[in-house]
Amino acid sequence: MESNGKKIPAVAQVTKSGHVFVFNRLTGDPLFPIEEKAYPSSPLEGEKAYATQPLPVKPAPFSRQQLTENDLYAPYRPAIVDDFIDKEQNLDPPPVLEKLQRVTSKGQFVPIDTVGTILYPGADGGAEWGGAALDPRTATMYVNANEMAWIMRMKRINNNASDKSPGGEALTQIHCARCHGGALQGLAGAPELQTVKEKFSLNTIATIVTKGIGTMPGMPNLSDTEVDAIAHFISGKEAPESISSTTKTQVPYAVAGFGRFKDDRGFPVMKPPWGTLNAINLNSGEYLWTVPLGHEEKLNDPAIPVSGTENYGGPVITAGGVLFIAATNDAKIRAFRLSTGELLWEDQLPAGGYATPATYQINNRQFLVVACGGGKMGTPSGDEYRAYALPPDF
Ligand code: HEC
Repeated sequence: MESNGKKIPAVAQVTKSGHVFVFNRLTGDPLFPIEEKAYPSSPLEGEKAYATQPLPVKPAPFSRQQLTENDLYAPYRPAIVDDFIDKEQNLDPPPVLEKLQRVTSKGQFVPIDTVGTILYPGADGGAEWGGAALDPRTATMYVNANEMAWIMRMKRINNNASDKSPGGEALTQIHCARCHGGALQGLAGAPELQTVKEKFSLNTIATIVTKGIGTMPGMPNLSDTEVDAIAHFISGKEAPESISSTTKTQVPYAVAGFGRFKDDRGFPVMKPPWGTLNAINLNSGEYLWTVPLGHEEKLNDPAIPVSGTENYGGPVITAGGVLFIAATNDAKIRAFRLSTGELLWEDQLPAGGYATPATYQINNRQFLVVACGGGKMGTPSGDEYRAYALPPDF
C-alpha cells in the first residue's frame, strides 16, 4: 500500500470485532494510528479485565459496535435468545425491547456480567473464518461481515460443601453448561441432561464425557476423579469421599450460556442489514462501498428489499474485476462488481456455501468452485461441491 506517496509492504488483519488493523509488514508499525481505549473493570469477584483495548482510528469498523434501542428492528416481539436465559429460569420471553433494557449493552470489551451482556457484533464476528480478499492493484480490501447481537451470561457456581457431589456441580457448570444450559435444560444443538440419569448409567455418562458422543467432543483432559464427580452429580448420586475431597473447586463463576439475540420469528433483533460486504481502500482507510449481503426470503418488508444475512465464508476476487462470494444463509452464491458493489449474478446452491470459493484455470477457461456443506445456523446440510465455468472471454 501507499502512505505519503511511498510504497509500503503491508499486512492487514480483520477481526471478529469488526476492525481492520494495517501494519508495515517489515517493521510492525501500524499504518493508521492505534489508540488505547479505556474499558470498565469486571463486576465479577476475582476477575480482572484489562483496563484498555487497542483500536485503530481508521478504517472505521465494518460492523455496528453497540446495540441501542434505536437500533432494534422489532422491539415489541418476544425475544428468543437461542432459548438459554429465559428457558433456564422457566420464564416466558419478554419483548425484545424489555430484554435489551434488562441486560448490559454498553458496546464491546465490556466484561460479561451475571445479568447478561450483549456481544455486538456477536461471538462469530464481524469478520469470521473466511477472512478478506485484497486487490493489490488498488490496495482495496473486500470483507464480508455479520451484524448479529448475541447475549452471554455468567453464573455464580454452587460451591456448597454439603452437596452430594461437592465439586461435581461446579465442574458440570464449568465444562457442560455452555452447551447443555445453566440448568442442563438443553440448548440449541445439545440435549437436556436433567433426565439423562434415567437413560444412562453412571459409567456410561463418564465414558460420554471422556470420549464424546455424536457431535459432542470428548474431554480427555479431565482427570478420572473430575469425570466421576460430574457423572455423580448428573446421576443425582452421592459421590464417595475419595472423589469429593479432591474435586472441590474454588472457581466462582461459569458461563451460563450464550446465544444469538433473535425475535420469535428467528430474525435478528437489530435493524437490517444483518450481513454486509464492504470495500475498503487501505491507502486512505476510507470505504468505497458497503452493500447488504444475502437476503432473508421470509422477511416480507417492502422497506427492506435486501436484508443481508448472517454469513460464514469469504470472498474471492478475479483479475477481471469481479468478486465471488457464497457464505449467506440463503444458500446462494453471488458475483459483485469490484469497483461499485453492484450485484452481477446469483445462483442457488444445493446447501449453504459456508466456505471461501476457489477459482482456477484449465485450457484458458476460468472456473469457480465452492464447497456446499450447509448445516450452520439451522440450515440443511449438504455434501456437494458446485463448480461453474466462467464465460470464455472472462
Ligand atoms: C461443545 C458442546 C458440548 C459440551 C461442552 C458438552 N456437551 Fe454433552 N452433548 C453435546 C451435544 C451436541 C450432544 C448431542 C450429541 C449427538 O447426539 O450427536 C451431547 C450429548 C450428551 C449426552 C448424551 C445425552 C443423550 O440424551 O443422549 C450426555 C450424557 C452429555 N452430552 C453429557 C455432557 C457432560 C456431562 C458434559 C460436561 C462434562 C458435556 N456433555 C459437555 C454438546 C456438548
